[in-house]
Amino acid sequence: MQTEVHKNSLLFVVGARPNFIKIAPLCRELRKRGGIPFRIVHTGQHYDKLMSDVFFEELHIPRPDFHLNVGSGGHGHQTGAMMMKLEGLCLAHPFSAIVVIGDVNSTLAGALVGAKLHIPVAHVEAGLRSFNRTMPEEVNRVVTDHVSDLLFAPTRTAMRNLGNEGLADRACYSGDVMFDMILRGLELAREKSDILSRLELERKGYYLATFHRPYNVDDPACLKNIIDGLAGLEKPVVLAAHPRLQKNLSQFGIEANGNIRLTEPFGYLDFIMLEKEAIRVLTDSGGVQKEAFFLQTPCLTLRPETEWVETVEAGANVLVKERTVQAILDAAKLELSPRFGEQPYGGGNASQIIVDKLESVLLQ
Ligand code: UD1
Ligand code: UDP
Repeated sequence: MQTEVHKNSLLFVVGARPNFIKIAPLCRELRKRGGIPFRIVHTGQHYDKLMSDVFFEELHIPRPDFHLNVGSGGHGHQTGAMMMKLEGLCLAHPFSAIVVIGDVNSTLAGALVGAKLHIPVAHVEAGLRSFNRTMPEEVNRVVTDHVSDLLFAPTRTAMRNLGNEGLADRACYSGDVMFDMILRGLELAREKSDILSRLELERKGYYLATFHRPYNVDDPACLKNIIDGLAGLEKPVVLAAHPRLQKNLSQFGIEANGNIRLTEPFGYLDFIMLEKEAIRVLTDSGGVQKEAFFLQTPCLTLRPETEWVETVEAGANVLVKERTVQAILDAAKLELSPRFGEQPYGGGNASQIIVDKLESVLLQ
């Protein structure tokens, strides 16, 4: 059956786990107002139930109107396939604007297609920079920002980064949609999640780990060091394994033993409950660093740098730059005095600010 598209419809391009969590509050706000019609296209970058469908169900995100079924592949293959299919979709339907979110390959594909077809592009979570071009996400961020028409920056640092690249006139400070999401998510999680009792965990009696960056998981020696470091921590370590990590552990024959409890990825509600009650979170995920901050759990970030510098400045996030067993064990023991009261991620109304701006641009 043909999906009908109103001529003023926005198109959200999403495809990977963090995209779903970030569009949830935006869709909610748009639906509440009923002003701008919107459609969702899922590129198929992530496709396992626990990497995709679970978020649509838990967070009441409208089912995608279009599915491109692109699946996994190298960067060129995956991004190119998305672009070909998205271009066809955009030529067939009169979308008034495209909204892309974050820094994944689906973000880049959506922005490039919009720019080439002269469809206005809005980028949510613009201006983030790690200044490390070996990260595929950094390339995606820079290109996406430069071809987009409207840039929604989650932090003042992001606003400055955009200004430094000559993009200030397209930038708007919105705050962070993930902060909006967690305020509501935590209420839902308290109502619905029984993960601590299911896993027989005590509050503040375990560590939570999740990591998936090629930098950490694609090199066997480095991956083994991280796993051995986690295995040596003195309390249980719940390791929520992204498919890339699962695949590499089995391909390299690395066993997660000691105190590690290796699990499938969790749904959002269980995951934020685990983040909230952990002693510390160990991660290389961008979103998880911020969520730990929102939930007032100290974070150890297994990366040499971060885009979310405010969490480090607040003493709530420590960069573990060396990937050795000892560096992980030492970091877990560091005395920290986090200042969780600071609010660098907006007022929990980023979605409203973004939708206000979209309305003022699109409904005039
Ligand atoms: C992608 C993003 C990364 C983001 C992460 C969030 C890019 C360049 N990378 O990394 O920024 O932090 O998503 O989770 O866009 N796989 C499955 N099932 C799935 C999805 C993936 O088994 O549902 C496996 C496949 O073997 C695939 C691998 O995971 O090759 C990596 O997936 P991909 O989307 O290419 O990159 P991520 O590492 O997930
Ligand atoms: N997340 C989840 N289940 C998990 C691990 C992470 O729901 O097992 C959520 C987490 O709460 C956060 C988001 O996934 O909202 C972060 O996405 P991810 O780490 O995949 O990507 P990144 O933020 O690094 O781009």
